Amino acid sequence: MEPHSLPLNEFPNLSLDPARLPRHVAIVMDGNGRWALKRGLNRCEGHRRGKDSVRAVVETANELGIQYLTLFAFSNENWQRPKGEVRFLMQLFYRYLITESKRLMKRDIRVIAIGEMSRLPGQVRRVLADTISRTASNRGMTVVLALSYGGRQDVVGAARRIAAAVAAGRVTPEQVDEAMVERELMTGGIPNPDLLIRTSGELRLSNFLLFQLAYTELYFTDTLWPDFREHDLLKAITAYQMRTRRFGMVNEGGLISLSAANQA
Ligand code: FPP
Repeated sequence: MEPHSLPLNEFPNLSLDPARLPRHVAIVMDGNGRWALKRGLNRCEGHRRGKDSVRAVVETANELGIQYLTLFAFSNENWQRPKGEVRFLMQLFYRYLITESKRLMKRDIRVIAIGEMSRLPGQVRRVLADTISRTASNRGMTVVLALSYGGRQDVVGAARRIAAAVAAGRVTPEQVDEAMVERELMTGGIPNPDLLIRTSGELRLSNFLLFQLAYTELYFTDTLWPDFREHDLLKAITAYQMRTRRFGMVNEGGLISLSAANQA
């Protein structure tokens, strides 16, 4: 699929600059439960409807030419939800991977995952591994599914691997730097997110990509995840393109170009 083939003229009030797209967008998909409760439905109905937003956002981001889209689908803390809800979510992930497989392949989208996969039910693990291997050579956007993921646990894992390398004498403490920590995170090799979107009006990171979000532009919207669709993604990216990214520096001689920052 050609990038930027999205009919942006369907959204005349939004003007996107295709040359300054975020390379990596990360999303905390929040508000499924509230969406359902507002309608007198079971919370799980919100998750079910949230799956449709996942499809819309994945396909729109891919058509725009976004390179990485990370979706916070299930946190380490989410295991503490009622058993029935956890079971429902696991079934939803399973069904998503089965039913979307063809569409993902057709769009040349690659899927990878971050998180503690060993905690997922075997059925989900197997279909996930299968999707990852079948889409591994796709060259379109990469969808990073954060499943059983926690940012602190991610940093702890990296620290452990580096400590082991130091203990084994392969690395000296002086050689430990930001680049090394970044490589050892579950997102190693993936550029840090340029834009973080959180839906449902909550203003928190909730243990998502803590190290990786250091200089990410944050975008919060009151829209609940099941209502978040193509237009909302375009609106968030438009807002991102109005920001000036300084990465802690001063801004002499004009804006730091977003595309230059993307290379950093
Ligand atoms: C947070 O909303 C959402 C989740 C814990 C689950 C996210 C899952 C989906 C969007 C389903 C589809 C995902 C994939 C990858 C197929 P919440 O339940 O905490 O909402 P609340 O704050 O209103 O209770």
